[in-house]
Amino acid sequence: MAVGIFDSGLGGLTVLDAVTKRLPDVPFVYLGDNAHAPYGVRDADDVYGLTCKAVERLWAEGCDLVILACNTASAAALRRMQESWIPADKRVLGVFVPLIEALTERQWGDNSPPREVAVKNVALFATPATVASRAFQRELAFRAIGVDVEAQACGGLVDAIEEGDMILAEALVQSHVDALKRKMPHPQAAILGCTHYPLMEKEFQAALGPDVTVYSQANLVAESLADYLERHPNMLGDGTEAKFLTTGDPKTVSSRATQFLRRRIEFEAA
Ligand code: DGL
Repeated sequence: MAVGIFDSGLGGLTVLDAVTKRLPDVPFVYLGDNAHAPYGVRDADDVYGLTCKAVERLWAEGCDLVILACNTASAAALRRMQESWIPADKRVLGVFVPLIEALTERQWGDNSPPREVAVKNVALFATPATVASRAFQRELAFRAIGVDVEAQACGGLVDAIEEGDMILAEALVQSHVDALKRKMPHPQAAILGCTHYPLMEKEFQAALGPDVTVYSQANLVAESLADYLERHPNMLGDGTEAKFLTTGDPKTVSSRATQFLRRRIEFEAA
């Protein structure tokens, strides 16, 4: 039994950490497409092609269920994959739906018509590709009415975090929050819609102020995955070994990942 976790690079390690804590007996195979990161500045066709290739690689590792821990892939590619590409015995799930269910106070699998919810003004911080896809607004509209979403494409932030330049990352968080507030002065909730952003959660919260509820994905995805596996235990594939795969240089990626998670991580070539 093994479950695949895919991200364009290192950001998905925030999700990996949370799912490993929540489901300690499940071996997870992580694949980072570091050779092609960042995805956030690519067009939708490009993200689709790269994501399909990565998912096939995880299927080959015995992971019948793959979590796209990358918002950009979830936003720009997942729907197209689910509509026409994924075989009946495999599943690919994204990271948007658990977040939207939390925001709209829905239980897993509640498919009732959209209804009014407590939150009215939502700020979305994400990569340029995720913002351009409008996937968040589309998924939200299936579940809630009367919610105003203002999206801010956070150009440069993923690169600054990947490079470990936290001074630049902090300045970028402040300037993206300022830009968002010019469009929506009083958001009630803010979504950190990129796997890298939880690493800057404190800075987002400080820039937004204490009245804004900041939603970060990793724990929500972990809860939702635990729930899913309870309902679909047959989706635990026949892989048995936890491992870290990368399309990039394993040595460089391992040392960045070790810094990123503050524990030793050893990647191997995908
Ligand atoms: N991991 C991607 C996401 O969650 C961001 C990094 C990238 O641009 O590749 O959107």
